[in-house]
Amino acid sequence: MSMEVIVLAAGQGTRMKSRLPKVLHPIAGKPMVGHVLDTASRLKPSALHVVVGHGGDQLRDYLAGRELSVVEQAEQLGTGHAVDQAMPAVDADSTVLILYGDVPLIAEPTLRQLLKSASQGKLALLTVELADPTGYGRIVRDHDHRVTAIVEHKDASEAELSIREINTGILALPARWLKQWLPQLSSDNAQGEYYLTDIIAMAAKSGETIDAIQPSCEQEVQGVNNRLQLAELERWYQRRQAEHWMTEGVTLADPERVDFRGDIEIGRDVSIDINVILEGRVRIADNVVIGANCVIKDSEVGAGTVIKPHSMLDESQVAEGCDIGPFARLRPGTRLANNAKIGNFVETKKALVGEGSKINHLSYVGDATLGKGVNVGAGTITCNYDGVNKFQTEIGDGAFIGSNTSLVAPVRVGAGATTGAGSTITKAIEDGELGVARGRQANLKNWKRPSKQ
Ligand code: UD1
Ligand code: CA
Repeated sequence: MSMEVIVLAAGQGTRMKSRLPKVLHPIAGKPMVGHVLDTASRLKPSALHVVVGHGGDQLRDYLAGRELSVVEQAEQLGTGHAVDQAMPAVDADSTVLILYGDVPLIAEPTLRQLLKSASQGKLALLTVELADPTGYGRIVRDHDHRVTAIVEHKDASEAELSIREINTGILALPARWLKQWLPQLSSDNAQGEYYLTDIIAMAAKSGETIDAIQPSCEQEVQGVNNRLQLAELERWYQRRQAEHWMTEGVTLADPERVDFRGDIEIGRDVSIDINVILEGRVRIADNVVIGANCVIKDSEVGAGTVIKPHSMLDESQVAEGCDIGPFARLRPGTRLANNAKIGNFVETKKALVGEGSKINHLSYVGDATLGKGVNVGAGTITCNYDGVNKFQTEIGDGAFIGSNTSLVAPVRVGAGATTGAGSTITKAIEDGELGVARGRQANLKNWKRPSKQ
């Protein structure tokens, strides 16, 4: 049987006090609705519908390129009305799963349980017991413990308010029931809204089976209404990631002070000091050491590499046994071969650094190719940009670049060549040659310092 997912994301999220639509606020660097869509996609639905309203344009931009259909809910008349907007496009023979864009951490196994029950022709409801159920819809059950209705907090009687089992909002059911019951909803209630939750009583009256299923933990169904809840959920998520990597053989100096924001893979015996952020697509091989306050984004780090504190790697590939930092900045397109060394206050960009080559101090190397065993002295700069165009610098194997050399690209320094310290190199230096380009020193023997007049 086919399955379709409807994600509700039209609400305004007033309490975020933000220009950004609520569902675009990130958890672990990814918009909340992105988490929901990624989880939904893993269920392989035949169609994915996202209901948008407030901040629709920003949301559409974010959703562009994904395989889903965006449904407009011009006016937010309630969750029932929201789902109804998507129904014309939903196949009547499918099972429908309804998710919320602001409940980001819902987990796949829980949803699979709901879908299993719904595909057997039942209404599967995700519920949870809360110590404080204030504000939520309450699950009303009969003497046989069968679910008979959901009553919204604002419509609940004194007795109903004491119920601690609440509606998470997430449910799955045959599409034909939605097609049948949604048009029958009325807005005659405390909030003047078309409540999706009213279909529960309709299902019960029709004698259908209602399955109440529980998530594996409360955080899975935690909705985000303000930035406090966003931060709480973020911390919980990060703690769980930290625990995962520790059980996989990673040493974390402090599991509360490391953030994982993206698609991360880490090998064995990796050691990560405090305040490290791993972001985007990151691959860390075995035995890597990452010092305090490093940010590693969309990069690969080979086995045994040591990254000292305060270093940043962005879209860079680092091979094995490299030594980076402290205070190094590897910008996009940096590729270090085995055993390369990038020292303090060195910036690289689109730089291929050959095996065992060293750029130890205070340098900028951009749009450059360095062979093996090159030594770049302190203060060396590739002048790669004339204000309009970028040019390449090529340095051959074993070259020695004297301190404070300016390499005016396009320029080539041959294998085994040397540049004199303080040179401004504008012409190619052939293999093995020395290039010196600086004013000659003159010593004035009879020179005297000026004296006070
Ligand atoms: C809803 C449930 C309640 C449940 C609670 C869980 C109803 C009537 N009530 O209440 O039983 O305990 O969620 O958090 O369903 N949305 C739209 N369009 C609308 C209205 C809402 O897209 O017109 C979206 C919101 O963006 C949000 C979700 O639906 O993602 C829930 O809406 P919200 O207003 O937060 O519902 P609650 O009143 O909290
Ligand atoms: Ca809510």
